[in-house]
Amino acid sequence: MKQTTSFTCTVCGTAYRKWAGKCDACGGWNTIVEEAPLSTGPRSLGAKGRPIPLSDLATEEAPPVRASSGLEELDRVLGGGLVPASAILVGGDPGIGKSTLLLQAAASFARKGLKCIYISGEEASTQVRMRAQRLGLTDARVALGAETNLRDILTTLDAERPALAIIDSIQTMWLDSVEAAPGSVSQVRAAAHELVTFAKRRGVAIVLVGHVTKDGQIAGPRVVEHMVDTVLYFEGERGHQFRILRAVKNRFGPADEIGVFEMTGGGLAEVPNPSALFLANRDQPAPGSAVFAGIEGTRPVLTEIQALVAPSTLASPRRTVVGLDPGRVSTILAVLEARCGIPFAGLDVFLNVAGGLRVSEPAADLAVAGALLSAREDVAIPPDMVLFGEISLSGALRPVGQTENRLKEASKLGFSQATVPSHSKFEGAAGLTVRQMADLTAFVGEMFGA
Ligand code: TYD
Ligand code: MG
Repeated sequence: MKQTTSFTCTVCGTAYRKWAGKCDACGGWNTIVEEAPLSTGPRSLGAKGRPIPLSDLATEEAPPVRASSGLEELDRVLGGGLVPASAILVGGDPGIGKSTLLLQAAASFARKGLKCIYISGEEASTQVRMRAQRLGLTDARVALGAETNLRDILTTLDAERPALAIIDSIQTMWLDSVEAAPGSVSQVRAAAHELVTFAKRRGVAIVLVGHVTKDGQIAGPRVVEHMVDTVLYFEGERGHQFRILRAVKNRFGPADEIGVFEMTGGGLAEVPNPSALFLANRDQPAPGSAVFAGIEGTRPVLTEIQALVAPSTLASPRRTVVGLDPGRVSTILAVLEARCGIPFAGLDVFLNVAGGLRVSEPAADLAVAGALLSAREDVAIPPDMVLFGEISLSGALRPVGQTENRLKEASKLGFSQATVPSHSKFEGAAGLTVRQMADLTAFVGEMFGA
């Protein structure tokens, strides 16, 4: 068999024929490494691979019976509970709370009668037990293991046949058949492949923990995203207590659903009503602040978008964006300049979503524009107003989905006005005064008198 080597980016998993200093796909420097391909061996197309007519497939197959974790925020993100024999990847920055979350989840599943095994490749069993003690979980019947050799782990799992096995983390696992260091792309992929195959064959649900890596030393969770059924990312700002578990891929439920937790001294606590969580103190009108009535997954969440605009001393002024897509922000700045004649050249722009939430809805455009204009003109947006709407390149405002839900939530949280695109569809305004605007120019004129 022909053995060729290939090159892979350790951060995003993109394959290259040749080495390069920079990954074109994710922009990382020095993240591309050489790796030997997995030998696949001879292939045969036996009876198992024979295609079956679609019409012959059993239609009465029941939907999977999901197991509830007892943690509503987790169940929601999983699409209603844990699907047996599924493979789940939980990614996140080191120290964000992945081990804490999964130990709590395992204990919670165990209390509901599910057999759970938690295998740590990073900490000794005593360390995990100490953490469990601190979290008040010592009564839960979770089997703990400290092991990194995947053969041993698979043997244990095969003997024990738990309903759920947690592997913390996939980057510490290694297979003796792969000649590469633990944490390399080849090892991480091979280990994940073995575990996912095991999950399907033996009916064991498997959770793989993956640390998000910034440099090229260790492969990141993205290199195994395509192998698993569900990809969850645990996000949050280090200094903030809030943590968001976000489904970015889910074969068994809606993607983009979020679960919200708070990191406390006693572990992660669920936050069942997060809609007001990301609003800063809003007694005083403050220039540069706009409240966006957003939808995260199936729930409305109100967030404060904060902008600071200041004269720049740099040849190319700063564009610092936290919690929003920087590309989207550049577009909004360009539209403000080209369609409304409001330049941001020579000005540093800082944009931030309060509370550490990441907002990816285009519906946030209008609130972003509002915050930018408010900061630039030093005119506050009324503190009892919410904004939402998509901005098109022409400067027109486009209506967005779930207008009514957004308005209802804003009303519930004490807001009394909303600015939305013309032709937005809603039955009732939930007691809010709703202003509808056709384009950004009308918005600028009305709000800032420019
Ligand atoms: P951890 O779950 O170890 O993160 P990860 O597995 O993603 O690397 O969490 C580490 C952080 O969480 C650590 O800085 C301490 C904090 N923490 C708490 O604040 N409260 C707690 O009850 C626990 C267990 C951890
Ligand atoms: Mg950990």
